Amino acid sequence: MATVAVLGGTGALGFGLVLRFAAAGYQVAIGSRDADRAKAAAERATELVPEAWVHGMSYADAAADATRLVVLTVPFASQAETLKAVSGSLREGMVVLDTTVPLAPAVGGRPTQLVGVWQGSAAQQAAALVPAGVRVVSALHTISAAALTDLGHEVDEDTFLAGAAEAKKVVADHLQVVPGLRAIDAGPLEASRLTESITPLLIGLNMRYKTHTGVRITGLEAIA
Ligand SMILES: NC(=O)c1ccc[n+]([C@@H]2O[C@H](COP(=O)([O-])OP(=O)(O)OC[C@H]3O[C@@H](n4cnc5c(N)ncnc54)[C@H](OP(=O)(O)O)[C@@H]3O)[C@@H](O)[C@H]2O)c1
Repeated sequence: MATVAVLGGTGALGFGLVLRFAAAGYQVAIGSRDADRAKAAAERATELVPEAWVHGMSYADAAADATRLVVLTVPFASQAETLKAVSGSLREGMVVLDTTVPLAPAVGGRPTQLVGVWQGSAAQQAAALVPAGVRVVSALHTISAAALTDLGHEVDEDTFLAGAAEAKKVVADHLQVVPGLRAIDAGPLEASRLTESITPLLIGLNMRYKTHTGVRITGLEAIA
């Protein structure tokens, strides 16, 4: 079975993805700034999914272990340094799934405010940092870590994929393992500036209505 690298798999969203991929039979390499922290996360994952093949290591080793897909789940402030750390491990034909939402904290509060990115979006910034021949696809900006981590939970949401067609197919094929999650083709990577901006809208709705909101697009039932 293929190996998926999850850079930041020690954190909220990344760990949820680690569990989903591991439960589906993928081998998972968790990448961290601290290999011991990654090993501890791998042990937690193995307790939750006993048959899993999950190992923890440095960012660079995890990216090198990936068969084709490297998932990036770190805060926006660390996106560039993380991609620079794995640059030597990324090979031609690999796909980086970038989940980054470029958020900054409101004064004294949680990260809820979208910040401007020179390249147009966090995903386009990522594309500027990966070696030639490596494709970036952005997705999962509105899927909550809690929904992914609860393996008994059917996600019942859509996620927008932005990037090159062949790379989006690689990502969509991997995301099929999450029950209820539907991958929608949002167009080229430039569309990420739109898809990344939906997250602060949902965060605001969640705070006002004290619930968890997600996205479902109507009129696309045929692709379900
Ligand atoms: N949480 C969600 O529900 C959610 C939903 C959609 C998208 N996202 C996006 O996914 C990415 C990760 O979100 P998250 O909530 O999972 O983040 P998180 O738990 O705060 O951090 C994820 C991992 O990033 C690594 N990291 C690298 N530099 C860091 C730094 N300076 N400070 C803290 N952690 C750092 C840490 O791993 P090591 O310490 O092991 O290196 C950490 O475990 C973000 O870009 C976010 O916008 C999150």
